[in-house]
Amino acid sequence: MSTPYWVAGKPRTSDSPVTVRSPFDATVAGVTSNATAADIEEAVAAAAAARDEVASAPAHVRADALDHVSRRLGERLDEVAALITAESGKPISWARVEVTRAIATFRWGAEEARRFSGSVQRLDTDPGSEDRVALVRQVPRGPVLGITPFNFPVNLVAHKLAPAIAAGCPVIIKPAPATPLSALLLGELLAETDLPTGAWSVLPMTNEQIAEMVGDPRLPVISFTGSDAVGFRINDANPRKHVLLELGGNAPVLICPDWSDIEGAAARVATFGTHQAGQSCVSVQRVFVHTDVYDRFVPALVSHVRGLANGDPADPNTHVGPMINADAARRVSDWVADAVTRGATLLAGGGGTGTLLDPVVLADVPPTCAVVTEEVFGPVIVVQRVESVDAAITAANTSRYGLQAGVFTHDLRLAAHATAKLQVGGVVIGDVPTYRADQMPYGGIKDSGVGREGVLSAMLDLTEPKVMVLTEFVS
Ligand code: SIN
Repeated sequence: MSTPYWVAGKPRTSDSPVTVRSPFDATVAGVTSNATAADIEEAVAAAAAARDEVASAPAHVRADALDHVSRRLGERLDEVAALITAESGKPISWARVEVTRAIATFRWGAEEARRFSGSVQRLDTDPGSEDRVALVRQVPRGPVLGITPFNFPVNLVAHKLAPAIAAGCPVIIKPAPATPLSALLLGELLAETDLPTGAWSVLPMTNEQIAEMVGDPRLPVISFTGSDAVGFRINDANPRKHVLLELGGNAPVLICPDWSDIEGAAARVATFGTHQAGQSCVSVQRVFVHTDVYDRFVPALVSHVRGLANGDPADPNTHVGPMINADAARRVSDWVADAVTRGATLLAGGGGTGTLLDPVVLADVPPTCAVVTEEVFGPVIVVQRVESVDAAITAANTSRYGLQAGVFTHDLRLAAHATAKLQVGGVVIGDVPTYRADQMPYGGIKDSGVGREGVLSAMLDLTEPKVMVLTEFVS
């Protein structure tokens, strides 16, 4: 049976079937279909028509809908996690973490919807405005087109849906072609709510179809998560639109000489440079290790990486799991081989079959190799010896990306210094950069994107301030 897609909240199927297969063993995870041109037009027209109704829907209606989705995800956690694993190959233990996070993302959406009030600004700060005050409300920018990637097929869809609904914006989701089923399941939960017709749609479609849709003036906001090449193409082609970009990274981590638990830091780096096969924008990629601790850290890292379980993502013990497809696995293997050809030392990994790659640790990598300069988006960790923390910061900043960084130090002054100097959107002190609480601002600078997610930050981005100046109100 074909899983329906959702046009303005109503289930549909088309005669353009899509069979979704596991990246691990090609078993069928499910069948759905691509939206037709008429469906897309209907969804866009409905979103445009619902703009005022959704904007003025009471906060309790929007919050109740988001609470409902959060609760239902909790009730169906096992099933949703299994679906994520089936269609994306994410190891089941990590899929469960993702669903747990999505429960929180929708819950935060509900909470922020209830709180989102704007502010009052006094204006009697300068002569001429003695009796004035400004009421600043955040008003929705209008319908949002949310384009989501394969690597978190539930929670990164949640990060488009929850803030849009909470802020009062109709939203159309275009899920990743490899992983539409999880997004469609979220549609099923939204269909159980009382949100106005046109408030949301979930439309699997081809890349050609989405190319047309991004230019549609009835969708003034585009929120994209994916590669920087595609993201900036959308941005550049739509200068009049409000475009939010959550893009890639090649996350650095600094191992400082004062860190007391070098073995523990090595274990964290091993875990979060390889989990879900490194297919996270904040997967640890570049590790700068102070020379005083390098000779203890690197053997510990290699030993941890060699011990990581790889294989069937449905096995609760599997940690690494498959790449999303054979092309992605080949690209990563080619980048590793290129680094080795150019002089890098392979300390672990380098083999693999099909979409499964043995996790890799590389040292002595020339700085111009792709495994350093680009986002690997695979289970590859590059270690580099540094003579000082400042040298590590300089090397970390030698990147076109700037998403998140980690700094293993107990020294608060060093932590503040590194946070000030690292060119990223967020710094995690005492741990890896592969960390995201779903309410915190999340996003990058440089080629890592524009704007911030994290439910409240996204709501601020999806709305704009509107000021009402009141006179004769300040005595
Ligand atoms: C991402 O890979 O873009 C998101 C990472 C996360 O939400 O943990």
